[in-house]
Amino acid sequence: LAEHGSPVDVVLGNISSHNSPLRSFFLQTPPFAFGTASAAYQVEGAWNESGREPSIWDTFSHTPGKVANNENGDVADDFYHRYLDDIQLMKSMGVKKFRLSISWSRVIPQGRGEVNQEGLDFYNELIDALLAADIEPFITLYHWDLPQALEDEYLGWLDERIIDDFAAYAMVCFNAFSDRVTHFTTFNEPLSFVFIGYDQGKFAPGRCSNRTICAQGNSSTEPWIASHHVLLAHAAAAEKLRPIAPNVSISMNLNSDWGEPMTNSAEDKEAAQHFLDFNLGLYADPVFLGDYPASIQAAVPSLPHFTKAQRASLLGSMDYFALNHYTSHWISASNGSVDEPLQKYNASFVKDGVPIGEKADSDWLYNVPWGMRKILNYIDKRYNHPAIYITENGVDVPNENSIPFPQVLEDNFRINFYQGYIKNAALAVTEDGVDVRAYFAWSILDNFEWADGYAHRFGITYVDYKNDLKRTPKQSAHFLAKLFGGSTKSE
Ligand code: NOJ
Repeated sequence: LAEHGSPVDVVLGNISSHNSPLRSFFLQTPPFAFGTASAAYQVEGAWNESGREPSIWDTFSHTPGKVANNENGDVADDFYHRYLDDIQLMKSMGVKKFRLSISWSRVIPQGRGEVNQEGLDFYNELIDALLAADIEPFITLYHWDLPQALEDEYLGWLDERIIDDFAAYAMVCFNAFSDRVTHFTTFNEPLSFVFIGYDQGKFAPGRCSNRTICAQGNSSTEPWIASHHVLLAHAAAAEKLRPIAPNVSISMNLNSDWGEPMTNSAEDKEAAQHFLDFNLGLYADPVFLGDYPASIQAAVPSLPHFTKAQRASLLGSMDYFALNHYTSHWISASNGSVDEPLQKYNASFVKDGVPIGEKADSDWLYNVPWGMRKILNYIDKRYNHPAIYITENGVDVPNENSIPFPQVLEDNFRINFYQGYIKNAALAVTEDGVDVRAYFAWSILDNFEWADGYAHRFGITYVDYKNDLKRTPKQSAHFLAKLFGGSTKSE
C-alpha cells in the first residue's frame, strides 16, 4: 500500500486542497459506513443440508453446459459452515454493514407451506453473530434462487400465484428477523434475473425469448410479465412489513449502468434517456413515480398495466434507494435491431476507437468512475432526493484467475477502481448534495459468479478453491479497511 500513499489521499487525489469539503467528509467518522456484500447461493454451499431443497440455480447449474466449466454452488465458499470466521475477518477490516441474502428454499423448502426451523436457526445465528461483531446485517430476500418446486408447479415468476407465495415467505422472514434487522430488500437486481433468465436464457431458469440467441424461443412477453409480477410481489411484501415493523426500512436493489449520450445531438440524448428508462426506470418509476416510463409503455405493446390499487401499493414501497452500480456506456440513437427490436438505442464501450475506461475481466465491465457520480445525481433528481445506499460496487481484475498466489493479492487494478468510484460517490455528496448513506463493496469473498462459475473473482478476499477454501485478504481489502478507518489483522 505504501506506493499508493495514504488511502484518503489516494481517493481524493490532487483535486482536493487540504481543507476541502471532500477531505473533511473523508476524515469524518465514518465517511460512508463501510459495507461488504454477498448472496446466499454464491457463498453458502451446503446445498442439500439441514432440510434445504433445490432452487432453480441448483437445477440450472447441475444441467451440463449452463455454467462455465459446469461449476455449481454445491460447496461455493462453504460460508454456511465458516460464517463465524468470515465475520471475524470482516470485523478486523472495520466492516460495519454486511449484505446477505436468505435462501428461500432453506427457510421454506417447497417455496410455500412448511417452514424449516433449521433454516431459520441458521440465519438467526448468523444475524446474532454479526450484531455481536458490531456489524449491521442488511437482508435481501431474493437473490435469484427461487425454490424449484414453484418453478415446477407454475413456472415461478411467470404466474401471478408467485405474488402471494413471495409475500408469505417475506412475512416469515420479517417475523423472524425484523426484531434485529432494520434494512430489508425484497429483490436483488430484477433487471438481471429477469432479462438474463427469461430473455437471454443464460441465468436460471434458462428461458429464452431473444430470437438471435434462440431461434425457437419462448414468448417475448415473458420478461415483461416476470417483471410485472416481481414489482407486485415487492409491493405485497412491503405492505406486509408495515404493520408488524413500522420502523424497519424496505427497498429493492436496483442495478443500472450509466448511459452517457455519445454526442450532444437531441437524438443521442433521447436515446440515453431511453436506455435509463429500460434499465432503471422499468423498476424505479412504478415505485417512485407511479407507473412504467412512457417510453417503455410505447415500445412494448405487451407490457401489462397496473390497476389503480396496485399503483397505490407500489408508490412509497421503497424507503431508500438501493443501487447496484458497476459501469457506463456511450449511447447513440438507433431504430432498434433484430436482437433488441424494442430498444431505440445502441450502447457501446467505445467512442472514436477509444474505450470508455479500462476493461475488467468480465466483458460487461469497464472502469468508468465518473459514471457513479452521474447516476447518483440522476437518481437524486428524478426520484426526488431519496436516501441512496450503494448496495453493490466492485470489479474483477483482468485475468485474475490465472495470476498465481500470492501475486494475485496485489490487486492494484481493483484498488484503482474502488478509489475512483468512491471518490465520485463522495463528490456527489460534498459537491452535489446527493444523500448517499452507505457503500457496500461487492464482494467480501471471491465466490460463484453465476454463469461464469468461479473463474471471475470479485472478492476483496482471495479464496483458494484448491486449498480448503482458505481466505486471504487482497491489497484492496487493506486499502478499503484503511480508507474507512479500520485496520486489517495482517498489518
Ligand atoms: C450483480 C449481482 O447482484 C451479484 O450477484 C454479482 O455477483 C455481481 N453483481 C457481479 O456480477
